[in-house]
Amino acid sequence: METASVDAIAVQQRLTELRQLIQRASYEYYVLDAPTMPDSVYDQLYRELQDLETQYPELITPDSPTQRVGERPASQFTSVRHNIPLYSLENAFNVEEFANWQERWRRVAPTVAEFEYVCELKIDGSALALTYENGVLVRGATRGDGITGEEITQNVRTIRSIPLRLSLDNPPPVVEVRGEAFLPLQSFEQINQEREKAGEALFANPRNAAAGTLRQLDSRIVAKRKLDFFAYTLHIPGVVGEGEVEPDNPSALAVTSQWESLELLRQMGFRVNPNRQLCRSLAEVQEYYDRWSTARLDLPYMTDGVVAKLNSLALQERLGFTQKFPRWAVALKYPAEESPTIVENISVNVGRTGAITPVAELRPVQLAGTTVSRATLHNSDRIAELDIHLLDTVIVRKAGEIIPEVVRVLPELRPAEARRYTMPTHCPECNEPVFKPEDEAVTRCINISCPAILRGALIHWASRDALDINGLGEKWVQQFVERGLLHTVADLYDLTAEQLMTIDRMGKKSAENLIKAIAHSKTQPWSRVLYGLGIRHVGSVNAQVLTQQFTDVDQLAAATPEAIASVYGIGDEIARSVHQWFHLEANQTLIERLRQAGVQLAGEAPPPVNTTSPLAGKTFVVTGTLPTLKRDEAKSLIQAAGGKVTDSVSKKTDYLVVGEDAGSKLDKAIALGITQLSEDQLLALLRESKQD
Ligand code: IVH
Repeated sequence: METASVDAIAVQQRLTELRQLIQRASYEYYVLDAPTMPDSVYDQLYRELQDLETQYPELITPDSPTQRVGERPASQFTSVRHNIPLYSLENAFNVEEFANWQERWRRVAPTVAEFEYVCELKIDGSALALTYENGVLVRGATRGDGITGEEITQNVRTIRSIPLRLSLDNPPPVVEVRGEAFLPLQSFEQINQEREKAGEALFANPRNAAAGTLRQLDSRIVAKRKLDFFAYTLHIPGVVGEGEVEPDNPSALAVTSQWESLELLRQMGFRVNPNRQLCRSLAEVQEYYDRWSTARLDLPYMTDGVVAKLNSLALQERLGFTQKFPRWAVALKYPAEESPTIVENISVNVGRTGAITPVAELRPVQLAGTTVSRATLHNSDRIAELDIHLLDTVIVRKAGEIIPEVVRVLPELRPAEARRYTMPTHCPECNEPVFKPEDEAVTRCINISCPAILRGALIHWASRDALDINGLGEKWVQQFVERGLLHTVADLYDLTAEQLMTIDRMGKKSAENLIKAIAHSKTQPWSRVLYGLGIRHVGSVNAQVLTQQFTDVDQLAAATPEAIASVYGIGDEIARSVHQWFHLEANQTLIERLRQAGVQLAGEAPPPVNTTSPLAGKTFVVTGTLPTLKRDEAKSLIQAAGGKVTDSVSKKTDYLVVGEDAGSKLDKAIALGITQLSEDQLLALLRESKQD
């Protein structure tokens, strides 16, 4: 029918348009870190796309943004053979070893006079091989043994910094991209906190967490875990990574070096690690390695070394591979952050959920630049697995900012007087008997009046992602609880400055500020309040998901476990936990008291708008290298002060923040007469906005 086909064309056009808009917005958000589309618009477009696709399922394409989140868990993964094997890297632990390695390849290619390396950070994650056919992602696979990996395309699609479609006008038939999937440290810590609450075994490090996540059968869980990806290798059969370009196959994509490959990957829409550097001598490689040995500790993700790769692809091809490694690249690793020490004691810590965590007290040892004297032993299962005894010699590990842990015990060094450790039968804080459910690893104190649980609940309530009460730290909470000022989080809202001033070292000004901060917390949205209640399994993401569906506390409290579990992304266990929580009388009383205090238990309060800030409503572009701030930091500071940050200069730009080596953006800003700011001037503006 005529009309049907006209409709079909219109639908198809709208679908294409929606997908392009969403893809662009995601790229700006996840890859460039510079969103221009407001979240509300994004949500609206996404919903429109979802609705259209539900109506016309035959028009769903594998690169549609809706296909990032899998609907059905896989029952198992299938194995796939890699077209090109994924090699691993030879290690060098210092620059002498690197020089030796360099001599070896120079013997293979004695005529090469000049050498040039691309130095990259070695990201501590899990390698992925991605295949694009005609520009569309068709396959994602794990490294496996390098020859055969597992097909995890559905999970790979959930990683927002991996494009589902390459941004190339005429994509070649096949493109293979390799890179590292990793978990940013913040997400890693959040996952472990959630696992701890759920009584699940913790991931030892972000690498294991990334690998474990990629192999999750349910891609909805993968989608929640915020994996990220840096691309580092590009193969285009016949064009890139195949040595010389065939003369009869000229291509706009022809690149001849690793440096250019990285640039092309970036143009194709991938995230490429910005901390790469071209090094033209051993001294430059050494300088890069040394600089990142400490700078890496400030990165929001884990690295375990740097990778030096010969830049010329022709030279790479000439050198080829050994059985296991490329001859043209080497990993310059940082020394392992592990060390032996002695367990002097084992104590236990009682967390806010009552979880009793055994902690090894160690003879102090230097690790990753800090002194380590305590390490977590996680739970009684881990203690049994390690078979740890008091006075044992153990290996401890500290990775970046992660809590140190005991990796293994050296039983051959166990002294005769060493004693096996057993978990306490009573809570060390309140002396009540502890409890360990059969099917859980965690031992708990279940006395709701236990001071440790109360302290934990208060600290969680005041934490940044919850009610964000500035100044209510551990030290004060401890004292307020000891002095009997607080018995539940609702008591916070009855505190007076006079009461606080009776506490040691609490001056008038601090007391008043704390009261103000507590009062301010009443404006925090309902989703944060729900998170702050500390219900088991309700992390900040689940709290947001739940409050979108249950827009006030009464609806949630009245909901059946089935109704709660029907919310997309909420499983049975979470639903049961929420339901049980609201059925305890003590918790109902708590909610009533919070309601009387004026805490938000409904809707989403709009974020406070700082209209008096000189940055409010102004549009900024940041360009060049700033003297002290990273570009992303500058952007977040501007946004936090009410400013808007975009990526390109236009007539609408109010300020250009300029650092060193600024390029075309500065030229354009000068041409348009846009005000330029140095980092100092920006900081001054930010200070002004704070004073308001
Ligand atoms: S290049 C043939 N570059 O390190 C080239 N690998 O120990 C092989 N890795 O399996 C890889 N960051 O998972 C390369 N910038 C980077 C890397 C990197 C992390 C991982 C990769 C590889 C392992 C080798």
